[in-house]
Amino acid sequence: MNHAPDSGLMPYTMTNRMDNWWIEPLWTGLGFLAFIIYTTWAVFEADYYWWSAGAEGFGGYLSPFYSPLIFINPLAEGVAPMSHSWLGSWPTWWPNLIPASPALFILFGPLSFRLTCYYYRKFYYRAYFMAPPACAVKGIEQKEYKGETSLFLFQNLHRYTMYVALIFIIILSYDAILAFFRNGQFGVGVGSIILLINPILLAGYTFGCHAFRHVVGGKHNCFSCSKGKQKIRFKVWQGVSWLNGRHMFWAWISMIWVAFADVYVRMVANGSWVDFNTWGY
Ligand code: FES
Repeated sequence: MNHAPDSGLMPYTMTNRMDNWWIEPLWTGLGFLAFIIYTTWAVFEADYYWWSAGAEGFGGYLSPFYSPLIFINPLAEGVAPMSHSWLGSWPTWWPNLIPASPALFILFGPLSFRLTCYYYRKFYYRAYFMAPPACAVKGIEQKEYKGETSLFLFQNLHRYTMYVALIFIIILSYDAILAFFRNGQFGVGVGSIILLINPILLAGYTFGCHAFRHVVGGKHNCFSCSKGKQKIRFKVWQGVSWLNGRHMFWAWISMIWVAFADVYVRMVANGSWVDFNTWGY
């Protein structure tokens, strides 16, 4: 194929494509960058990740970026009661230079799952490395392509980080239940709905994972020949395949929603927004 220099925005690329192929790497690159910048700020902020209107009993809104709470720093603002901490009060060995943020203990789990996701790899290789930036577009030259066999070998951990993501869905589902209680009293608030939608969207993303699809449907040559339990397995595989075909949608919607849930809890906890709810707080 003869490559012609691309005319406008991307002077280092060559292609014969006449469509606006650069739009997708541009919006995915900027969108993910915005998420990373916000997440980094929210993780180090270490305050206002919990709201229960001062009630100490069962229930409250917990930011998904901070769940589960391994340790709690009781000196911070807008923090959960100590009974929500898995291992108690903030450890004394923690270096003073690093903010006492519970999010730092758990962020590696979901982040490692996202960063090694097959869809994420596709878009960030295209958007940030431009190697290549799109199908049939010549980008930055790679002298010797080694794929994910050397520098990016860690990407193969995705099939294991998937199990971590499954655990997080259980934890965040429990947080969604917590969000329907205040001081042990059942009720509904805008935050309850937001925190309920969160694990549902994350489940849509995680259950459509390529690795999960393999777990569900792998090692089979013929589903239509199967009987009994295998028929159920076939049905599950079909459901997972449906999600898998829309993996990009679930990846983005769940990522945006998890950040929005953090924003919502934070704004209610610091008094900037009012949570409309049935408890009357
Ligand atoms: S491939 Fe995207 S989550 Fe596994």
